[in-house]
Amino acid sequence: MESREEKEKLLRQRGLTIWFTGLSGSGKSTVAIALERELSSRGFLSRILDGDNIRTGINSDLGFSEQDRRENIRRIAEVCKLFTDTGIITVAAFISPSEQLRNMAREIVGAERFLEVYLSTPLEECERRDVKGLYAKARAGKIPEFTGISAPFDVPQAPDLELDTTGLGVDRCVRKVMECIVPKISLRGSDEYK
Ligand code: ADX
Repeated sequence: MESREEKEKLLRQRGLTIWFTGLSGSGKSTVAIALERELSSRGFLSRILDGDNIRTGINSDLGFSEQDRRENIRRIAEVCKLFTDTGIITVAAFISPSEQLRNMAREIVGAERFLEVYLSTPLEECERRDVKGLYAKARAGKIPEFTGISAPFDVPQAPDLELDTTGLGVDRCVRKVMECIVPKISLRGSDEYK
């Protein structure tokens, strides 16, 4: 099998997992999608993993108990590792509510290929948006163990980047992530992010 270095040379980029963590409605998938578009326009190949394609597919057998969330994140991290070791920029957007889960993901992928981005949009703002109507249901007691309401979210202690989408538009969030990752994913020398 060809080595990661050979694959990265072929793709002219370096593999990296960008791990978005934060409450439901904090902007993880929105920023991830805009980031993917920006990466593509700069010639970088990327792959998004989020609830839409993971919890309906490979993890459709899992719910939201502590045990299931752990298995959810474990499988996702293993998939991230495969993509990252293929030289692909892998963008994962999951609540991943505890330091323990995020550390497990980092260990599986490999710390030097893992960047943690915390979407710190406060609960009040996520609940005000309530894009999927789930906070209202959770408040009404219709969804048990809902993160931020009846299940915990540990604030990340040392994220590589923190973004609060209350006051920061999607484009500015993408810009900040790009400034942080372009030096890590570039193999072309001439790549500079302006
Ligand atoms: S994680 O905790 O295991 O990392 P994940 O990111 O995969 O969660 O899924 C979160 C999404 O599932 C939320 O954005 C929301 O749409 C939906 N969801 C359904 N039930 C719950 C729940 N009890 N807690 C949190 N999110 C839930």
